[in-house]
Amino acid sequence: MFLGSDALAVGPFTNRIAYLDEGDYVAIDHGSARIFDRDGKPVDRPLKMVSASAALVEKGNYRHFMEKEIHDQPDACQHTLSAYLDPVSGKATAPAGVDFSKVTRIQIIACGTAYYAGLISRYLFESLARLPVDIDVASEFRYREPPVIPGTLAIVISQSGETADTLAGLRWCKAQGLTTAAVVNVHESTMAREADLVFPTHAGPEIGVASTKAFTSQVAALSALALAAASARGHIDAAEEARLTAVLLESPRLIAQSIQVEDAIKALASDLAKARDVLYFGRGAMSALALEGALKLKEISYIHAEGYAAGELKHGPIALIDEATPVIVIAPSDHLFEKTMSNMSEVMARGGPIILFTDEDGARHARPGIKLIIVPKSDDLVSPLAFSAPIQLLAYYVAVQKGADVDQPRNLAKSVTVE
Ligand code: G6P
Repeated sequence: MFLGSDALAVGPFTNRIAYLDEGDYVAIDHGSARIFDRDGKPVDRPLKMVSASAALVEKGNYRHFMEKEIHDQPDACQHTLSAYLDPVSGKATAPAGVDFSKVTRIQIIACGTAYYAGLISRYLFESLARLPVDIDVASEFRYREPPVIPGTLAIVISQSGETADTLAGLRWCKAQGLTTAAVVNVHESTMAREADLVFPTHAGPEIGVASTKAFTSQVAALSALALAAASARGHIDAAEEARLTAVLLESPRLIAQSIQVEDAIKALASDLAKARDVLYFGRGAMSALALEGALKLKEISYIHAEGYAAGELKHGPIALIDEATPVIVIAPSDHLFEKTMSNMSEVMARGGPIILFTDEDGARHARPGIKLIIVPKSDDLVSPLAFSAPIQLLAYYVAVQKGADVDQPRNLAKSVTVE
């Protein structure tokens, strides 16, 4: 008999797990476990078979779990997408229980990296499905007392499904009578059990404290849901749905290609490791990825980093730019590229060293003196997926260069189950 706060903790010993409900307690000895509810009444909690076996959580030939999990992303996204997309019919299927044609608005609630996955998805729900999206970090949302708008679908996003603030946000929405959905990677988690609907990610167990494959799987699932919503709401026709479904289904291959920039990124890490401050800029969904890139870098390398929407440069961060402050720009050659180019000129004029993450077309227009990381060209729908792994690898190699404890950075926990 083992007690654990997470299925992963007992994964090496057993795959038969009983989940306690809120308020339960348990008396165990070497051969039995008796579970009681909050009133002291003996209760049965069903035994579940879980897949979090020891075999799944080994590092293999990788130095760190984070490195392995970055490389796992093509598989993680493929498994996730196959739950939402049908390659034969070319359709995105919304999970049973949700009718996007009746949803008037989406409220997204999450913390940390999961919040940034939500921010990325806002661009897709709004532009593709024409659904208004409100999004907030859970610790603010739960105390904000926002007015409740009927027809809102509340979506919590969480790798663990246990983050205290996100769970409180979910419970608040339920109490207001909203339909709730949980995008979770741990399918037996509290959020999965309490939400009306579960939108699973299939990233497999994630061990590194800094989230990588869970993040891209969240982005993949939410992108497929945005596509399903666009179709259900009549904003795309069958041909466009089939085209975008194919684009999304191709994204695991795209991610695998984007990971091939690994050596180029490794070569940049020693210079970047000397920086005290690093700025990340992007526009559109890439502004959310800029926030995530900055979070990744500060979490594991302890370098101060900030992410900004590139248009905000002149409203403050430009004052920070000098020769010692590297600027990471994430800019695929999309309709916003020109605008981001002019931001880069402003940075260069002030001596700021730039590392530009772009595609082949963007690279052709980059000014001399800019260091380039060239990611395969992709459709706008999947650009966030194409640029994620290179951004994660940058943080990873800087942290390795600094000798930091990549998988267990100081002061951070994988699941934050207290407020
Ligand atoms: C912690 C982790 C982050 C994670 C956040 C939210 O802060 O260190 O990597 O993004 O919690 O966790 P969740 O399990 O809700 O996605």
